[in-house]
This record gives sequence, C-alpha cells and structure tokens, in this order.
Amino acid sequence: VKIAIVFGTRPEAIKLAPVILEARRRPQVLPLIISTGQHREMLAAVLNLFSITPDLDLQLMRPNQSLAEISARALTSMTEVLTAHRPDLLVVQGDTTTAMASALAAFYLHIPVAHVEAGLRTDCPTAPFPEEINRRVISQVAHWHFAPTEQARAYLERDGMMTLGGRILVTGNTVIDALYLAVAAVKASPPVQPDLQAAIEWKRDPAHRLILITGHRRESFGRPFEEFCLGLRDIAEAHPWAMLVYPVHLNPNVQEPVRRILGKTPNIRLAPVLDYPAFVALMQTSDFIITDSGGVQEEAPALGKPVLVTRDVTERPEAVHAGGVRLVGPHRQPLFASAHELLTSKQLYEAMAQRQSPYGDGHAAPRILDALLHRD
Ligand code: UD1
Ligand code: UDP
Repeated sequence: VKIAIVFGTRPEAIKLAPVILEARRRPQVLPLIISTGQHREMLAAVLNLFSITPDLDLQLMRPNQSLAEISARALTSMTEVLTAHRPDLLVVQGDTTTAMASALAAFYLHIPVAHVEAGLRTDCPTAPFPEEINRRVISQVAHWHFAPTEQARAYLERDGMMTLGGRILVTGNTVIDALYLAVAAVKASPPVQPDLQAAIEWKRDPAHRLILITGHRRESFGRPFEEFCLGLRDIAEAHPWAMLVYPVHLNPNVQEPVRRILGKTPNIRLAPVLDYPAFVALMQTSDFIITDSGGVQEEAPALGKPVLVTRDVTERPEAVHAGGVRLVGPHRQPLFASAHELLTSKQLYEAMAQRQSPYGDGHAAPRILDALLHRD
C-alpha cells in the first residue's frame, strides 16, 4: 500500500513521527513522506530526533505568510505532488493549513484521506483561528477519523462525520507516543543547550522556581498577546526567585511584542526555538508551564506538570476536567493570579501536579497502521 504522509509545521512533524516510524516497520507499506515546508527552522528542530528526511520538500514558507497565501500555495503544490505520485491514501494530522489544504487536494483527486487527531472541537469558529474551521473541513472529506479520546469520537458522531462511508476509531493521541520516545532519548543522551543548562543550574537551589512559557496563537495577536506578556512580566516582578524561560516562536507577530515587553526583565529568559529533546527536558525541569499550545497541553499532564492555558476556550478539555490544566485566557490579571497561587499554595500545586495521560498511552501509531492496513 502506498501511503503518503504529509506535514508542514512543528506539531504535525512531532505527532506524525511515530506514524512514519511505524509505517516504516510494516513491510506492506510503501511510505511517501511529504513536507510542505510551511515551517522551516521549526521543522528541522524535530526531524533530527526521529531521523526523518522527507521524500519531497515543497519549501512553502515565506516570512509572515498570510493564511490565504499559504493555503493557496499548499493546495496547488499538493495537487501536483499527489497527481504525480498517486498514493493509495493520504495521512494528514491536526488542524493546520498544511493539513486542511492537503486533505482538500486529495479529496479533489479522489484519494482517500486519513485524519490523525480527529474530532477536536471548541464549537467556536474563531478560536482557535483558523484551526477550528480547518479541522471541520478535514472531517468533511476524511475516510478515516483517528480520534484521540472518547470525547473526540463523540463530537465526530454528533457532527455526522460518516459522510464518505468512513470509520471512526479512538486511538489515543500520537503526541504521547512521540513524547515517550523523546523522554527515552533525553534519558539516554541528555541534551546540551544553554537555556536548558541555565534552567537546570537555577533549579539547584530548592527555593527557586522555574516556569516554562510558550505562546503563538493567531487569534491572540495584538492586544491579547500584549496582555499575556504583561501578565508574565507581573509574575516575574512579583517573584524574583522564579525564573521564566520562554522559547519564542519565530512568527514576527510573536517576536516583536515579546522582545519589547519582556526583553528587559532579568528573571525572564527569552530563548530560541528549542529542538524537541531540549524542550522535553525543559518541561521536565520546570515546576509548571504557561502556554497556548495544543501539543504542550497534551504532553505536560503526562509529565505531571501543571499548565495554565492562556486561552478562553480549549478543544482539549480532558486535562482541565482531570485537574492538571486551568484556563486563564490571554488576560493579564487572571494569568498573574493563577501563577501566583501556584507559586504560593503547595496544596494547589500538588493537586495540579498529578501525573496523568488522558490523551493516550503511547501506542496510538500502531493502532492507526493496523486500521489502515485492514481497511475494507
Ligand atoms: C501554524 C499553525 C498552527 C500551529 C503552529 C505551530 C496554521 C494556520 N497555523 O501557525 O495551528 O499551532 O503553526 O507552531 O497552519 N516562521 C519562521 N520559521 C519557522 C516557522 C515559522 O520564520 O520555522 C515564521 C514565518 O515568518 C511564518 C510565520 O512564522 O510566515 C507564521 O507561520 P505559519 O505556519 O503561517 O503560522 P503559525 O503561526 O506558525
Ligand atoms: N516544542 C518544541 N520546542 C519549543 C516549543 C515547543 O519542540 O521550543 C514542542 C512541544 O513539545 C509540542 C510542540 O512543539 O510537542 C507544540 O508545537 P506548537 O506549540 O508550535 O504548536 P501547537 O501544539 O500549538 O499546534
């Protein structure tokens, strides 16, 4: 079976790496690995760990690309590639422009689509933007819907996502497969990276605290993103024994406010984008995490790290219900108040730091390959 697997951004590469590794292990599969190159540097930082070199790299990234630009280029380029290679099916992941445009390209060519991480919903079309709509479009054209959780399956059933005679299967999220691989790699060969070294050094004093930060969502750009930065600065100023480490996303709409608002605070350390093992090691070193990332919301509970999510809604409610994640919005005061509470209340901290993995058991990829190979 000729299985094409496409990714374009950092999280897709992380979450599809276990699927690619598993596909390579199956003798019946002829994998075709395609990168749209929606991201450039941020992809490279992932592929190394998993020794993945795309068979085709479309190199689509442009600085500060608009949604229309990247969507149009991905749709055209993927149509060319799929026409030339005619795979038996195409695997897409998640809710990015790459995933949405690639699924559409395959649909137009009557190539069946398998959707990994299907069924996530906020039911709010503008948050996350444009991902909520991307994932609904993919659901409409997919044959296989690999849902990470029962909740995701319920949404797919509610939305009648069997239009193409397709199949829904709860597999767990492949991000947990990837995380466990990374944790093993970190243990076998601890990454060396200056910001990680500084964090480990800082944590040698038992009174010190370490908070890991990420932030990049498009719907927050502008005022909400500034509020988020101001909240972080308030936390750092009120708690000098806490160090905030922030690997800054390469999007210029993120870089500018982060450097302007946080660049001069001594206990905020702005870091470059980290490769996956270094980031996983930093999650392990941290006391808690402040993020708007989807993947980090899934990984942190599996590592027993509390998370404050700087969004008003999440399509990943499972860990919120389980108690490890709290939604604080991109709002200065609620963000500060929750971080302050986590830094000062041992009881709250311990309640939120229970290790749990509502998103998977680390064996999602073999389930996906089994389903794809026994298709009828
Ligand atoms: C994209 C996804 C988002 C995902 C995020 C992961 C869409 C619509 N959004 O958002 O769902 O959570 O990736 O990070 O698909 N850039 C670089 N180098 C890189 C990567 C990005 O310079 O390696 C800069 C470029 O200026 C680029 C900009 O970031 O134009 C935005 O990248 P883009 O992929 O359009 O959107 P993200 O905000 O990264
Ligand atoms: N990540 C990484 N290096 C970093 C920041 C994040 O490897 O400097 C990893 C993180 O562990 C998670 C993924 O990137 O697996 C999340 O990607 P991102 O936040 O870009 O996208 P999202 O998950 O929000 O779609």
